[in-house]
Amino acid sequence: MSKYILAIDQGTTSSRALVFDNNGNTKSIAQKEFTQYFPKPGWVEHDANEIWSSQMAVTIEAVSKAKLHADHIAAIGITNQRETTIVWNRKTGEPVYNAIVWQDRRTADYCDQLIKEGWEEKIRGKTGLVIDAYFVATKVKWILDNVDNARGKAEAGELVFGTVDSWLLWNLTNGHKHITDITNASRTLLFNIHTLNWDQELLDLFKIPRSMLPEVCDSSGDIAHTSGMLFARKIPITGVAGDQHAALFGQMCTKEGMVKNTYGTGCFMLMNIGNKPLVSKNKLLTTIAWKIGNEIHYALEGSIFISGAVVQWLRDGLGLIKTAKDSEKMARSVKDTDGVYFVPAFTGLGAPYWNQHAKGTMVGISRGTTAAHIVRASLESIAFQTHDVLKAMEADSNISIKELRVDGGATENDFLMQFQSTILDTQIIKSKTTEVTALGAAYLAGLGVGFWKDQNDIIQKWKVDKTYSPEQDSNVEKQLESWKKAVQTTNYWTN
Ligand code: G3P
Repeated sequence: MSKYILAIDQGTTSSRALVFDNNGNTKSIAQKEFTQYFPKPGWVEHDANEIWSSQMAVTIEAVSKAKLHADHIAAIGITNQRETTIVWNRKTGEPVYNAIVWQDRRTADYCDQLIKEGWEEKIRGKTGLVIDAYFVATKVKWILDNVDNARGKAEAGELVFGTVDSWLLWNLTNGHKHITDITNASRTLLFNIHTLNWDQELLDLFKIPRSMLPEVCDSSGDIAHTSGMLFARKIPITGVAGDQHAALFGQMCTKEGMVKNTYGTGCFMLMNIGNKPLVSKNKLLTTIAWKIGNEIHYALEGSIFISGAVVQWLRDGLGLIKTAKDSEKMARSVKDTDGVYFVPAFTGLGAPYWNQHAKGTMVGISRGTTAAHIVRASLESIAFQTHDVLKAMEADSNISIKELRVDGGATENDFLMQFQSTILDTQIIKSKTTEVTALGAAYLAGLGVGFWKDQNDIIQKWKVDKTYSPEQDSNVEKQLESWKKAVQTTNYWTN
């Protein structure tokens, strides 16, 4: 009987499940969007129960679409939107508040206060992260401070917290396991990436009781088993990683200096920096790429908050395009942006600028500016932000990046990929499968259960779809200069 790996990919806007065969080909896929809540400007929430129910619905759908049953599934791999924070009751499994999503800015002022108090260097040294509302700790603190009786219950040991991987693992094991994988732990602001332990000083700073914390596990290996509630058989869960870490693995960036960029809601560039954490001098993050047994890999990360979401905004917010695909045609209908630059700081600016209060800014508009110029400037903004992160990465690592592996929805846009290659002066390599994140989780799970022998076995099967090489364009320097000025302008407008 042929066996398969089931990948659970819980993202920011949709829950997905995919079944992969031994060659890494997708046998089936199921996807379901779920509700986004915006209770106040800058706040973003999900219903944690809807995360779970939508994820289970697609998991069952993917398995039945592939005409398989539990015995065919060798193992499950989990990957997830990172930093999104859930606090739930240990006894009932009921969340005490909605999941606070990674994009949420409600703790920005508190973060400013911590920066003023001088915590930046210490926190960066221990966790590899910057102080920003993006990460988990301030979200947990907010829930404990603002939800009725939450702090008291947490101190009495009645509440637990977890990122989305932890929430899925809790539910998949019917509450038997409260665990998180090490990559997700490294996004909390509470985990020391040198000692590989929760850090008591940081727990004290954020006033988070230790009893709330999940146990930390490897990204691949014998992690857990399903409880038998969903499938007739208990299925091993042998791979877990945050989505960007899974994508780095799915791109097989397994050697030091290899880099990937995923163009999703945001854009996340990660470079494998080997087995020693390198603290960034250029406002990048240091994160744990994965840990498999005794082998640990670290990564430098540039997190860009808005990339594909800008195309969504052109479609749903402005109505300038009907489908995401139209953006390419429209961008190509003009020879350039006619001097328009757009910095899509809808939820502040992430790497390498880190401005929690920045708002989107468009500059260079004239009477001749058309919708096509705005669409083109929006696409170009994705490439410019990526440029700034890549340059910071080169400066930190002392490596000149000659090849960038890409994945995610926006890589379907040929205009953007070509422009990206020219702006970076770097070759862009698009992998054969667009489902790199889920594939990475499947690879981790498959390695954990012996479905694939070792990483070399997987590398043999990794295939390229398309390569983009830089074109000669004498305007690149000027464009980059204007983009830099546009970002500076954005920094002034922070009300
Ligand atoms: O850090 C946030 C990231 O993990 C979200 O990724 O693909 O769900 O937008 P995505």
